[in-house]
Amino acid sequence: MKFLALYASPHQGRSNSAYLLDVIIDEILKSDENTAAKCDLTKMRIGACINCGVCRRPDRTGCFQKDDMTPIAEAIAEADYIFMASPLYWWNVSAHLKCCIDRFYGIPFDHFKGKTIHLVMTGESKPDNEGYAIVERSLTNVCNYIGARFEGFFAGASTNTIPAWNNDQLIADAKAIGRRFI
Ligand SMILES: Cc1cc2nc3c(=O)[nH]c(=O)nc-3n(C[C@H](O)[C@H](O)[C@H](O)COP(=O)(O)O)c2cc1C
Repeated sequence: MKFLALYASPHQGRSNSAYLLDVIIDEILKSDENTAAKCDLTKMRIGACINCGVCRRPDRTGCFQKDDMTPIAEAIAEADYIFMASPLYWWNVSAHLKCCIDRFYGIPFDHFKGKTIHLVMTGESKPDNEGYAIVERSLTNVCNYIGARFEGFFAGASTNTIPAWNNDQLIADAKAIGRRFI
């Protein structure tokens, strides 16, 4: 199976959400049947959607913006599973991920059909913080709209005090998610 991992934290080399997604992907790659492509959205040039309507024209030439969303759209079409990692920012996903999700609008929705989109999200707050519920509700609706299914791993913990790489419970939870695919 083909996995796509999209990273959306500006924390370079010390991202909690990226760390946990890497734990999941490392586990997934224990099966020779699986391959994974990784893209760091924070290092890519992805313009904000401007709702120009070009992607809705009958000739379907796609988004008029020719930037790094083009290879991501191709990777989405090829992937069986899409994983995304983001910190919780102001009760929402990071700006990098939001920009990418807005640009889903310019990708034919049948490229998402039947796929599961997973989000690994870390935050300072505990899992009962409303931020995670807001993100879950929002992305569940986005996924329903494009014909996909949403699944969240909301790793709410005091990441500033105990980073994810020192949190045995979060690491065990991430490994368990990865093991489901091997
Ligand atoms: C701009 C900004 C907004 C944040 N908003 C929240 C928030 O609403 N709730 C929360 O629990 N943590 C919030 N945080 C903390 C981050 O979610 C937390 O540090 C996260 O684990 C970082 O993940 P990362 O290392 O993958 O970037 C915020 C941090 C920043 C910089």
